[in-house]
Formats: sequence, C-alpha cells, structure tokens
Amino acid sequence: MTYTLGIESSCDDTSVALVRGDGFVLRTLTASQDLAHQPFGGVVPEIAGRHHLEALVPLVNDLLIQTQTSWSHINGIAVTNRPGLIGSLIVGLVTAKTLAFLHQKKIFGTHHIEGHIVSAFLGDEKSAPTPVWSEPYISLVVSGGHTHMYLVEKPGSYKLLGKTKDDAAGEAFDKFAKMMGLGYPGGVHVDRLAKDGNKKAYDFPRGMAKDKSFHFSFSGLKASAQRWREQHPEVQDLKDVSASYQEAIVDSLIDKLDEALRFYNIKKFTISGGVSANSRLRERAEHLAQKRKLQFIVPPLRYCTDNAAMIAYAGALCMARGEESDFNLKPFARADLGS
Ligand code: KG4
Ligand code: ZN
Repeated sequence: MTYTLGIESSCDDTSVALVRGDGFVLRTLTASQDLAHQPFGGVVPEIAGRHHLEALVPLVNDLLIQTQTSWSHINGIAVTNRPGLIGSLIVGLVTAKTLAFLHQKKIFGTHHIEGHIVSAFLGDEKSAPTPVWSEPYISLVVSGGHTHMYLVEKPGSYKLLGKTKDDAAGEAFDKFAKMMGLGYPGGVHVDRLAKDGNKKAYDFPRGMAKDKSFHFSFSGLKASAQRWREQHPEVQDLKDVSASYQEAIVDSLIDKLDEALRFYNIKKFTISGGVSANSRLRERAEHLAQKRKLQFIVPPLRYCTDNAAMIAYAGALCMARGEESDFNLKPFARADLGS
C-alpha cells in the first residue's frame, strides 16, 4: 500500500494530510485562517500567503510525529498547484518541491477541483473509504470558488457539463451572510438559521431554471436578497429569509443535477466541496437518489471543506495510474479541469 503526503494551501486554509492508496486518511491537520480574514468579510490574499508561510512546515512536522511516520514510508507528495491565490499556491509548491527534492519523492501537481471530486471516496477510522466507483458518474462540486458539474467518464478524465455563469454557490451563501450581518464564512450560519425557518416564506428566483443548459447562476438571487433587505430593514429574525434563500440555491443545484443525470442516463452521482456540508442539500440529494433509484455519495462533513486529504488522494490515484509531475511544476491562478 502506498502513502501520499498532501499539501493544500490554495486559499485560506493551510492543510496537510497523510493518505493511504485506498483513500484511508491517517490524519489531516488544518490551520484555519477564518479569524484572520473575518474582519474583512472575505479572504485577503496577502494575509493568506503570510499565514501559510508560518503554518506549513510546522504542520508537516506535527503530522509525521502524530502518525509516527518516517520519510521512508512516504511514496509521494501531492500539492495543489491550480487554481487558487497565486501567493498561497507558491508557498505550498515551494514547500512540496523542497521536501520532494530533499527526500527523493515523486511529486504530483493536483487540480483543486479534482481533489474535491475524489474527496467523496475518502474514509478514516470513523467511516471506511468507499472504493472509487467504476465510471461513468456525475460529480457536482460546490464550494466558495466553484460550482461545476462534471461527467467522470474514466479514471482521471473529466468532461465539464456546466458551471456557474457568475457567483459560486458558496459565494452566494457568503454574500448573503455578509448582507444580513451573519458571520464569515456564511454557509454554516445560513444552514443553522434555515433549520428553524419557513422555506416558502419568500419567493427567491431560481437562476437559469428555464435554460436548457447545465449552467448555473446565482447573481439574480443575490440581487433579490439585497432588495429584500432594503425593503425589510426592520426584520431581526432571519430564519425565514435564510430558509427561503437556501432553498433557492438547493433547488437550482438539485434540478440541474437531475436534468444532467437524465440527459446522460447516468445512475450515480457525487456532491462535494464546502457547500456539500449543507444539511438541506444533503437531504435533497438523498431524496433524489431514493426517488430515482440512483447511487449517491457525499463526503463525510470533515472532508467537504478544503482539506489536504483530498489532494493527497488525488495524488495517490495519479500515482496508481503511473502519472507524475516534475520540478517544473508551476502554480496557476486560473485553470480549467478536463474538457
Ligand atoms: O470547499 P471550500 O472549503 O473552499 C473552496 O474551495 O471554496 O468551500 C467553502 C465554502 C464557503 O463558501 C462556505 O460558506 C461554504 O463552503 N459552506 C457551506 C456550509 N459549510 C461551508 N455552505 C452551505 N452550508 C454549509 N453548511
Ligand atoms: Zn475547495
């Protein structure tokens, strides 16, 4: 069995993990920067880079100590090299290259979204990994930076079916939370409030609902919530508006996913990325799977948001396919996955 060290520093979390070739996570250590960015209501790139620089090497050291692993047991190092904040990516890449050079290990440059896709199959002591499915299946990745739907046709081969035309689903949650004076990142606050709210209280728009494509749009919804706040400045109890807003996002995601599954006649799907932690989205996905007799996986909650375990596993799967990167590996702020 192989062991891969993963390094994720593409945005505001510094994360390292050690993952076995079958997707079993030995340990993940993540230093969250939420508190550093909270006063700004969003990620400040320079602050993110500086925090990664401080946190990364000590985290790798702690990981090896806590898992009692020596370098001789590690087969490769996987690092997110695209897409992301360029300064943050550079910190991860320089660290990964230096360690790979020093310890003579293979290096794997990983696309952040590929990490989210394979995170569905991760497991650990609490829940065993699901063996990677035989393709084809549809993967919906919903996070703060992405809302992308892929047809996974064969191992490592991704066909982009649709993506957001404007804001990502997580961004729609975060901007709403900011508008309403809730905390950052916003999704988890909206999720919590929505649990006791009436999702039919307000009628928010479902972006691109009538469009035949598999693309998404959340900017109209965001504008509509802004108007709601202007028209209801006195409302303090935000449960109903949160539930109604969340339902609009979840409806858009589930409807497009359902349409794509029908169109391509696919019987299996995964949902991953930070927004897949949303309790209503998980409930609706479960319902869709039951109603249409489909197979469905979402990652355990701890692997929904950014983490290095998913990056390590994407690297491990590359290693199993005989692919690897070299020391010319570069960071890319923007990069598409697949075709
Ligand atoms: O995957 P992730 O950690 O980072 C990116 O790659 O962007 O996703 C972060 C996003 C944030 O927008 C956050 O608000 C959202 O995931 N999120 C949620 C929930 N937990 C995190 N959105 C809705 N409901 C949640 N429970
Ligand atoms: Zn992410």
